[in-house]
Amino acid sequence: MSTAYKASQLRWDPFDPDFRANPYPYLKTIREQDPVHRSMHGEWILTRYEDVFRAFADQNLGPLTRTDEFDVTYEYLKGKGKVMEGMKLAGKMFLPFIDKPRHPKLREWLHQAWNDRSVDESVKKRIDHMMDQWDFDQVDLMTEFAGMLPILTLLGVMGLPAEDWVQLKKISFKLYPIIEYRRTMRSFEMLNEGMEEVVEYLLPWIEEKRKSPQPDLLSNLIKLNDQSEEKLTDQEIAGFCAFLFFAGQETTVHLIGNSLQLMMTHPEQTEWLRNHRKATALAIEECLRYDSSVPLLGRIAKEDTEYGGKIIKKGHGIVLCVAAAHRDANRYEHPDQLDFSRTSKGNLGFGRGERICSGAWLARKQAKWAISKLMDRSQRFELTADPIRQDTFNPRGYAHLPARIVPA
Ligand code: HEM
Repeated sequence: MSTAYKASQLRWDPFDPDFRANPYPYLKTIREQDPVHRSMHGEWILTRYEDVFRAFADQNLGPLTRTDEFDVTYEYLKGKGKVMEGMKLAGKMFLPFIDKPRHPKLREWLHQAWNDRSVDESVKKRIDHMMDQWDFDQVDLMTEFAGMLPILTLLGVMGLPAEDWVQLKKISFKLYPIIEYRRTMRSFEMLNEGMEEVVEYLLPWIEEKRKSPQPDLLSNLIKLNDQSEEKLTDQEIAGFCAFLFFAGQETTVHLIGNSLQLMMTHPEQTEWLRNHRKATALAIEECLRYDSSVPLLGRIAKEDTEYGGKIIKKGHGIVLCVAAAHRDANRYEHPDQLDFSRTSKGNLGFGRGERICSGAWLARKQAKWAISKLMDRSQRFELTADPIRQDTFNPRGYAHLPARIVPA
C-alpha cells in the first residue's frame, strides 16, 4: 500500500476499517510528516518513540479521563432518572482513571497482596489440557486457546472457580468499550452493566474469603484492606478486582493471538525460532513491538506542555501511540520487519513510569508457555483460512485464527 499521503491528507481514524486492518502505513506517514499531530477529533497524537517514551513519565500529563468525568456523567444521567452506580464505581476503582494521591496507594495495595508469582505449573497444565481437547486438523487458536488461557489463569490467581470463566469473560466484554478510542453513552451503559454483574458475582466470594482466607490474590487483598486504616468497602474491593479482570485479560489474549498470527504468517521466523528456542521470550517481545495488543493509551494535559515544538494546552487529550512508536526507524532498525533474532531494544507495550503494567510478568509467562507448548507439540502449525479481526482498535487482535496443527 502506498504511504505517500500529503500532509493535508494525514489520516488518523481508528474507526476506518482500512486503518484498523493495517494502521502502520498511516502511522508512518503521520510520524514522518507531522509527528505531533492534532487529529480531526481534537486530540494530539504522539507517534515518535522519543515523544511516547517521554510522555509516559511526564508529570504534566494526567490519567485517561478528566477526574470528574465519571461523576459528571453519573449526575447527568441521574438527573434523567438513570442511576449508574456500577459506572461510578469503575471511575473510582479503575487505575487508568485515577490520579495521585489515590493511584499510588491502590497500586501499592495490589503489589503487596500479589506476592505469589509461582504460576508456571498451573499455566502449563491448563495449556496441555486445552491442547488435549483439540482436533489438530481444525482448531481455532483464538476461541480454543488464546481466548481462554488468560481468563482461566486470572481465575486461578484470584482463587475463583475455573468453571466461571464463560460468565466472567462475557462480563469483561462489557467493560472493554470504555477504553476504545472514543467513549460513547453506550460504552458507559455497558460498563455500568458489567460492573453491576461483576460486583454481584464477587461480593459473596469476598465474604467467603474473609471468613476462610486461602493463598490467593483475592484473600490477600481482603486481608491487607481489613488491616489498613483507610478501609475500602467490599463494593470497592470488587470494583478493583473487576479492573484486574479488565486489565489482565484481553490484553494477554491478543498478545498470544497476535504472536500466533505473526508466527503463522512468517514461517521463516518460526523456523528460526524452532532452532533457537532460548529466544522465545525475546520473540514474544518482538511480536509485542511489531503488533501490540494495546496500540494506544490516553492522557489529559494537566498543564500546558510542549512536544515537538507544539504547545499542548491544559485540558487537551493526548494519545500515546505505542503502535507508531514501535515502528520508529530512529529507534529500531528495519522497524517494519518482524525479526525474532533482533537484539532487544525494549518496547513500550507494557507502558513505563508510574503506571507501568503490574501484570507484565504474568502476561509474558502465559505467552511464553503458550508458544513453547505449541512448538513442543507440533512440527508446524498453519492458517487454514484468513484470520478474522476483532472489531476493536484497542485492544487490537483477532476474533478467529483457524489453523491446522501438524503434530510432533
Ligand atoms: C499482554 C498483556 C498486557 C499488556 C499489553 C498490558 C499493557 C499495559 C499498559 C500499556 C499499561 C500502562 C497503562 C498506562 O500507562 O496508562 C498497563 C497497566 C496495568 N496493567 Fe497491564 N497489560 C497486560 C497484562 C496485564 C495483566 C495480566 C495484568 C494483571 C492481571 C495487568 C494489570 C495492569 C495494571 C494493574 C496496570 C496499572 C494501571 C495503572 O497503574 O494505571 N496487565 N498494562
